[in-house]
Amino acid sequence: MRYEDYLRRVPKAELHCHFEGTVRPATFAELARKHGVALPTQEVDALYAYDTIEEFLKIFGLVSTTIIDRDDFARVAYESLADGQSLGNLVYREMFFNPTLHTRRGIAYETVVDGIVDGIRQARHDLGVDCRLIADVYRQDDPAEALAMVEQVLAHRPDELIGLGMDGAEAPDPPERFVAAYRAARAGGLRLTSHACEDAPPQNIRTCLDLLGCERIDHGYHILDDPALVARARDEGLVFTCCPTATATVYGWRDLGTHPIRGMVASDLRVTLNSDDPTMFHTDIGKEFVDLCTALDYGPAQVRRFCLESVDGSWLDDGEKRALRVRFNAQLDALDAELGEVA
Ligand code: HPA
Ligand code: ZN
Repeated sequence: MRYEDYLRRVPKAELHCHFEGTVRPATFAELARKHGVALPTQEVDALYAYDTIEEFLKIFGLVSTTIIDRDDFARVAYESLADGQSLGNLVYREMFFNPTLHTRRGIAYETVVDGIVDGIRQARHDLGVDCRLIADVYRQDDPAEALAMVEQVLAHRPDELIGLGMDGAEAPDPPERFVAAYRAARAGGLRLTSHACEDAPPQNIRTCLDLLGCERIDHGYHILDDPALVARARDEGLVFTCCPTATATVYGWRDLGTHPIRGMVASDLRVTLNSDDPTMFHTDIGKEFVDLCTALDYGPAQVRRFCLESVDGSWLDDGEKRALRVRFNAQLDALDAELGEVA
């Protein structure tokens, strides 16, 4: 077996992937046609090109405007999980979505979440891949809007919805703006995470941990600028959800050999690998493992660490985690044996 095939086939749990960033280009074009949404070009693949987070977020918003009916939300969620499974042996995902990107267009929150959950349940039934949801604060929203979103989430909450996160452009809008939204989410029993230190100083991680109560950090790369914080994260067992390709594209580590993930792993931090916005960055969860692990020369032992760290860092309950670990270890043992025989 080629190492590339091994990397695609290892079992994966994914903790950092945005619903709106998983729309297949063909589905994007079809939904735009269905709803009469004008696009700057019919060659939608050409729209999936950006050098900065702002350019990316503009297209992320445009894609979102084509998802309107409950069926659209279900379809996108289903295809997203099917793609993860077929391209990278995705077994489980905790998936972000941005309620306010949809509700501000006049779509009822219930349509959004019920549609996504329809797609998740259908994928679980047909394919056996499982998924939970994390509602994201969009940083460019004002804090009152974010708090209202959390209240809406808590008022209509399917079992799949387990957490609150935060995305959008980090540099202009620091996390302390959203203390009230996080406090309400915590009081309502949601788990907490946030994008941080993707494009801002380490202070944002401190704020997320100490002020917002975050249990995980999404991205986190600039922690390497602060050795004391690295030591704290290591001591506390903080889990980071890192995304090789997306950040290589919009933050300038074009050569994955220079990506901060390397330093985070070398510092013994708990790193997981994720696809972020797979279709929008021309990637998938299998390709993320292939590209990063070959660029950084990571062998099967480190690959197993990545796979199991995602299970341990997930918000499944302890029994579910134990069962998933057993399943992952068995699959990894079998794949290691196959790799060894052919190598
Ligand atoms: N960072 C910031 N905003 C985002 C991201 C991300 O990784 N993905 C979707 N919106
Ligand atoms: Zn992200």
